Amino acid sequence: MSMLESMRSYMRRDQVFEFLIPDTPPDLDITHGVILYLEGITVSFDGFRAINDLNLYIRDGELRCIIGPNGAGKTTMMDIITGKTRPDTGSAWFGQQINLLRMTEPEIAQAGIGRKFQKPTVFEQLTVFENLELAMAGDRRVWSTLVARLDREQQDRIDEILELVGLQELVRVRAGSLSHGQKQWLEIGMLLAQNPKLLLVDEPVAGMTGQEMERTAELLTSLAGSRTVVVVEHDMDFVRSIARTVTVLHQGSVLAEGTMDEIQNDQRVIDVYLGD
Ligand SMILES: Nc1ncnc2c1ncn2[C@@H]1O[C@H](COP(=O)(O)OP(=O)(O)OP(=O)(O)O)[C@@H](O)[C@H]1O
Ligand SMILES: [Mg+2]
Repeated sequence: MSMLESMRSYMRRDQVFEFLIPDTPPDLDITHGVILYLEGITVSFDGFRAINDLNLYIRDGELRCIIGPNGAGKTTMMDIITGKTRPDTGSAWFGQQINLLRMTEPEIAQAGIGRKFQKPTVFEQLTVFENLELAMAGDRRVWSTLVARLDREQQDRIDEILELVGLQELVRVRAGSLSHGQKQWLEIGMLLAQNPKLLLVDEPVAGMTGQEMERTAELLTSLAGSRTVVVVEHDMDFVRSIARTVTVLHQGSVLAEGTMDEIQNDQRVIDVYLGD
């Protein structure tokens, strides 16, 4: 047995990988059709268990809605997936090979997990186009790309994204003068510029008009399939309009999971969330 082989036999899979290729995370491997595994996750803040033995599996390409009362742990769950919060126990894998608990926030974003916070964070002084241009540059020498010309491929990607988020007509408009809904779509566009495989979207329709909500439902639905979308939302009309599988979180754990019909008729869900 070579030295490498003998070392390998003493190490777990992820450790072996780190040893062999120190700086590059493995490619996303979704051969089992599951893009995200959260298992036995627990997080306490000052002794309070915000996440309590959470188990959650998201299939590649699905559009999953996560609902649950205030304080159920929905945002904290996203914080764990994106590396913002470290769990006390449990495991979090992106596909078969990527151990999220060993990665920093930027590494996780780089690996293909994009997150949209509730409040839009576009650059108000820049145009829609410039915002997308910056997002496309990612963390790679951002400012130099502002003076450099975009190549044809990047230009096409931006056009594609503009069409997807429905902002083609507003490409030269300053982001600061967009409506709240349009800012949200621009920010989703900026996420898409990074080409994520998994998109986490926290309360996307808060503050939107009915029409903007409808448009957002279409957008998120169209993104699923080629990407995976996890949406946290309180607005039940909106959830109903996009829902396939719905997961109900309560006190940091999964209380119920199923179709909208199953969830709405589940007495435990009615008691803790839908009843009021
Ligand atoms: N950094 C933190 N420090 C202390 N407590 C925290 C922290 N983050 C979250 N919590 C607590 O953890 C619990 C879960 O919060 P979380 O924000 O995940 O809930 P949520 O399901 O997103 O609620 P909402 O629907 O109101 O957004 C809450 O009781 C919250 O106060
Ligand atoms: Mg929240």
